[in-house]
Amino acid sequence: MTHFFKLVLFLTVLFLVVDSKIKDKGKNKKSKLKSSKVFHKIPGIPKFIKPFPTTGIDQSAAQDGGGKKSDYETKFIGQWEILNNQSGVSAMQIQLMPDNTINVYDTTIYRLSRLKYPEGMPCVPFYDENLKENKQDCFAHGMEYTLATNQVRALTVKTDPWCSCGGLTPDGTLVVAGGFGDGVKTARYYGGQKNCKACDWREYPNKLQEARWYATQTILPNGEYIVIGGRRAFSYEFFPREGQPSKKPYFLAFLYETTDIDENNLYPFVHLSSDGNLFIFANNRSLLLNPNANKVVRTYPVLPGGSRNYSASGMSAMLPVTFNLAETEKIFLPALKDCGRLVITDPNPEWDTEEMPTGRVMGDLLNLPNGQLLLLNGAQKGTSACMLECTTQAIPNGKIWVAGSNTHDTYKDDDKFPTETRVEAFSPPYLDPNPDVHRPTIVEESSDKKLAYGHNFETQFKLQNMDQKFTKQDIKVMSKAPPVPELAPPGHYLIFIVNRGVPSQGMWVHIQ
Ligand SMILES: *[C@@H]1O[C@H](CO)[C@@H](O)[C@H](O)[C@H]1NC(C)=O
Ligand SMILES: *[C@@H]1O[C@H](CO)[C@@H](O)[C@H](O)[C@H]1NC(C)=O
Ligand SMILES: *[C@@H]1O[C@H](CO)[C@@H](O)[C@H](O)[C@H]1NC(C)=O
Repeated sequence: MTHFFKLVLFLTVLFLVVDSKIKDKGKNKKSKLKSSKVFHKIPGIPKFIKPFPTTGIDQSAAQDGGGKKSDYETKFIGQWEILNNQSGVSAMQIQLMPDNTINVYDTTIYRLSRLKYPEGMPCVPFYDENLKENKQDCFAHGMEYTLATNQVRALTVKTDPWCSCGGLTPDGTLVVAGGFGDGVKTARYYGGQKNCKACDWREYPNKLQEARWYATQTILPNGEYIVIGGRRAFSYEFFPREGQPSKKPYFLAFLYETTDIDENNLYPFVHLSSDGNLFIFANNRSLLLNPNANKVVRTYPVLPGGSRNYSASGMSAMLPVTFNLAETEKIFLPALKDCGRLVITDPNPEWDTEEMPTGRVMGDLLNLPNGQLLLLNGAQKGTSACMLECTTQAIPNGKIWVAGSNTHDTYKDDDKFPTETRVEAFSPPYLDPNPDVHRPTIVEESSDKKLAYGHNFETQFKLQNMDQKFTKQDIKVMSKAPPVPELAPPGHYLIFIVNRGVPSQGMWVHIQ
């Protein structure tokens, strides 16, 4: 029997997995291993040969993120459960927060939800265009969902965040740009304070320079956010400091060139490359932008086979970055049946095309704690606005949190597809109850949670009666944090210990 351990950093903001190879710290670690009794000798990690199943969901998910196949197999194909039958707000957009709550927000346009503001929270005044009169909106369009209890707390959303974009800043503040109607130029902030028991949205309308409906925002190595594109917005700008206006928009011809009658350049796919430049994909074209110099560094070959746009027809995620290779890969799993893969750091990049098991639209592509990619949701036929879409998020216990979906322009109860306010969880095959003995448990109290770039950090974990040697022993592993913020911008990340494909519960760490 061989045992090997691997640390996978699960980057919630970028959907990017970084594999820190313990092997590379061979020298350091060996000396540490000898000098400390709690350290057990951990064999080096086998070479990354074929890290991921290349098509859809691999049933034998009992495979570690790479290298040698694990020595246990599972027949468990996953399981669904309902966490909450009536959460109140349909989850059009969500963000997992470092305090293990999920911030949920929906459009305000229906002036309706299934969650009323409780006493003490004022209703929101608005002008009803149809009735031509001033009215009060007493329904919450946002809520805080606590994962531990599955309970919700109403939040006040005033300007419409419909198809806005968002992300966490290094200090854990959720910042959201744009939306619809009165919200197109709003800069929103939530949390980031010490005690967030009573946090609510802080909205600043008209602080963005251009209307950002269906724009994409991405965190940069310096911790700032860039906001790119949107409907008829052929530019990018930088997310302003709270209360300040954004400085100026930068015209990006590419966004104009990739728009067409179907507006196939909405929600462009943007990923930070390991060289600090931004990979931007829209429609069927892509380029590398230096956001600081406002310069297009290079362009990539056109992706054949039709236009891709999120969420109507495409999904995109970054494959793992291994520090020693410093290589970033990119994968698209489009509306169509084929799936393009591009090495964006290759000097002569070309699209590799693979077939998915089924054609799929409006799905979600998630990086799992064990390094696999999961395709979830979606339909096999037809597209619609982002209203139909549900939202998904891998949560610290390794399950996938799933909520939302609304095919109506209101909250509808009686229909073949009523407005969805239930919250469900999907347990991927790695949560098979049988190999639970293989599941490591991180000892949070004696693990490092504050990481510094390029520095070693220690994680302590327990393994249950796996074999005599490890029984009830604590194991410590020393790993190296990402060397540079280009690989993992500053902020909060979930870290998992993965043992033979079975991940522990995630622990939040912070890197700066
Ligand atoms: C949700 O409703 C179903 C059917 O009424 C019930 O069996 C289940 O226990 C409920 N779940 C929760 C978490 O309330
Ligand atoms: C997105 O792509 C699909 C399929 O390629 C296309 O039908 C649709 O019109 C596109 N645009 C939008 C805004 O959905
Ligand atoms: C790329 O998309 C544009 C605009 O939709 C289209 O005119 C062009 O033919 C496409 N190119 C390829 C190679 O598919």
